Amino acid sequence: MSKNSEIGNGFVPSGQLQFGVFFQGVNSGTVWKAAESGSQTDFDSFRHLAQTAERGLFAAFFLGEGLRLREHLGRPHSLDVAGRPDAQTMLAALAAVTDKIGLVATQNTTYNDPAHLAHRFSSLDLLSGGRAAWNVVTTDNAWTGENFRRGGYLEHADRYRHAEAFVETAKRIWDSWEEAAIAESETAATWSAPGSIREVSHTGQHYTVEYAPRLPRSAQYRPVLFQAGDSPEGRDFAARQADVIFSAHPAYEPALDFRRDIVARTVKAGRGPNDVQIMPASEFILAATAQEAVDKKAWVRSLQIGPQQAIAYLEQFWGRELSEYDPDGPLPEIDPVVVETSETRGSGFHGAKARQLADQWRAESKDKGQSIREFVSGKTSRVDATFTGSYTDIADTLARYAKSGAVDGFNISPWLVPTGLDDIVNHLVPELQARGVYPTEYAGSTLREHLGLPVPERPEQGGNTTATEVSLQLAVAAQQL
Ligand SMILES: Cc1cc2nc3c(=O)[nH]c(=O)nc-3n(C[C@H](O)[C@H](O)[C@H](O)COP(=O)(O)O)c2cc1C
Repeated sequence: MSKNSEIGNGFVPSGQLQFGVFFQGVNSGTVWKAAESGSQTDFDSFRHLAQTAERGLFAAFFLGEGLRLREHLGRPHSLDVAGRPDAQTMLAALAAVTDKIGLVATQNTTYNDPAHLAHRFSSLDLLSGGRAAWNVVTTDNAWTGENFRRGGYLEHADRYRHAEAFVETAKRIWDSWEEAAIAESETAATWSAPGSIREVSHTGQHYTVEYAPRLPRSAQYRPVLFQAGDSPEGRDFAARQADVIFSAHPAYEPALDFRRDIVARTVKAGRGPNDVQIMPASEFILAATAQEAVDKKAWVRSLQIGPQQAIAYLEQFWGRELSEYDPDGPLPEIDPVVVETSETRGSGFHGAKARQLADQWRAESKDKGQSIREFVSGKTSRVDATFTGSYTDIADTLARYAKSGAVDGFNISPWLVPTGLDDIVNHLVPELQARGVYPTEYAGSTLREHLGLPVPERPEQGGNTTATEVSLQLAVAAQQL
């Protein structure tokens, strides 16, 4: 462990990295047109990815959640890769064909109910021998709400207060069984020891819970909690509640800044500086040499941003059909029909002045001599999130992150299914192991053990005995929701 922390507030870098796989529910980054592309929906694809990740000692197999197809000019966006089966069902199936890897399902608090969701996570945790985790998100768009919730969605501040009450209630459900709750004796009169299961009671604006939880604890006590959401409210929520943040800051300096910010918020919330781990979203394009990797990246991008994708991307901001424009020609001279831009529903709302944006983009592409396709490729490539290079160069780069403690690991989105992790596991992992920054075996059998997280202490009563005054006040406020 390094003692010279660049982070401050008592944070000590572990010097180690963990990997997770991140697979979105609906996405536009997976290459589905190459000869190497396999099915995006068959179980075999996911089995291959999960087993490869496990061979590479990945801590977690992570599924995002997309509850509704994105729409484009009022129609489902036919360029998206969609149809991935439901996360918890998929992870339950993967639990049967893997032994060690953690199984993380993204589930939002806005459109679920706590007693039901806590039970489903307990089920996955028990069935997998203590490998489940919940990536808590609040989901930021009204279009999902239209499909699920009377009156659309919750305002931003309410979403996080609602999320806090939700997570506190789920934790109380998971705390409700005593360790020796199952009588497990031939002479016992009842199956569970009398008085060993607490009822959970919550009455708030959005839901009421009067519940005697139905499942005992798992091998890791309860599911690990991830969080994804980058606003100040989202970060404070993570600082109080999460074990791991799935962050959007993979580039080195922003990752260090994010770590400093999270450590400060975590300490302020009364927890230890190392209590919340950070794993940013990332993409890896690797090859034996740096030049081969650059060539491979150009090939990947050409498949991710083909002519149709390039035009469709601009249509999101112009609000009109642009199919008559040549993707290899300049940006359209015609003006947008919308006043404000509204990127394809599902990607969030940009809200820039459309005509101003169009002028700016036309000037920018003209300056750089770019065609529509080249311009869109530049705008959409996840510059910050993509590590492109030789196995050895990228291993050196990642070792730097480990030493400073900028991150605890990376959540890798494979751009190819099902073989997108093969070169990472076959070539990058051994380079990282040789540098002493990556595990050479699983630390145990539960996800909590892989991540080095402590087993939670069961509060004496309710769910708040370990909480600080700050979070107690928030929890009380949240009870009003
Ligand atoms: C890295 C990352 C991954 C996310 N993955 C999902 C997801 O799979 N499903 C989802 O509904 N929201 C996802 N979110 C969005 C969160 O739901 C959150 O609602 C959104 O970021 C708005 O919260 P914020 O204002 O705190 O950023 C993700 C966010 C981040 C940063």
